[in-house]
Amino acid sequence: MRLFWSILSQISYLTSQISNTMSGNMNLTLKVWRQKDAQSSGKMVTYKAENISPDMSFLEMLDVVNESLTHKGEEPIHFDHDCREGICGMCSLYINGRPHGPKRAITTCQLHMRSFQDGETITIEPWRAAAFPVIKDLAVDRSAFDRIQQAGGYVSVNTGGVPDANVIPIPKVIADEAFNSATCIGCGACVAACKNASAMLFVSAKVSQLGMLPQGQPERYSRVQAMVAQMDEEGFGNCTNTGACEAECPKEITLTNISRMNNDYLSAKLFREQAVEHDGGGA
Ligand code: SF4
Ligand code: FES
Repeated sequence: MRLFWSILSQISYLTSQISNTMSGNMNLTLKVWRQKDAQSSGKMVTYKAENISPDMSFLEMLDVVNESLTHKGEEPIHFDHDCREGICGMCSLYINGRPHGPKRAITTCQLHMRSFQDGETITIEPWRAAAFPVIKDLAVDRSAFDRIQQAGGYVSVNTGGVPDANVIPIPKVIADEAFNSATCIGCGACVAACKNASAMLFVSAKVSQLGMLPQGQPERYSRVQAMVAQMDEEGFGNCTNTGACEAECPKEITLTNISRMNNDYLSAKLFREQAVEHDGGGA
């Protein structure tokens, strides 16, 4: 009888392999970080992801795995996501040792399973940084970024409606550069990629997008000091100058932003600190 079941199971496995080959679908092994909560220690747990379409997104593949875990009465894998189109910055997964996986300039939700090979083993971990504590499994707390934004990522002037914005002429090259900085989605991949868990790329993008425009001038120097101070308070490390952040950023935010921020910060410290203390800013 045992022999019968063994043969049956081998036939079933072979049938599924043949069916996968014909459909182009993949069978994968996942090694996933599971952690009950911030206080518990975590560990890697192995799962099978079977009959996965190459056209699925990485998050859809995880949905399939979670569905099968739920059917078996097991706890699904917790991971963050929202827009699933590269806008919100929520899908923070460290895949095969790289933030957002093997492709350049895309987020995890834009990564497709055709980027992997049938039979491959994929490791999936959360962002690793003291300032991003794990909430559960692959979900981390990135509220440190919110607090940095709250420290200075705003303008006090009334910018009016849309027609008013066009009344202030801004050279195209400046407008384009400010827009590039503004494309940062706050995902935190730059922190995860940095061996010092530095947040310089994120903070510099947020400082730059306002500091380059006329509307951002009143708080330009107080802003950079306040946001850098908050960044340090949150426990992010110093810049390593290796450029890992730029290489892994899904929005291709450049290191030029960090140079620009350092320039403003130095200028604020050397020449404008008095003005900042007295009136909260000064262009
Ligand atoms: S700079 Fe890039 S990697 Fe860092 S938070 Fe912004 S979009 Fe994400
Ligand atoms: S889920 Fe919004 S950027 Fe990936």
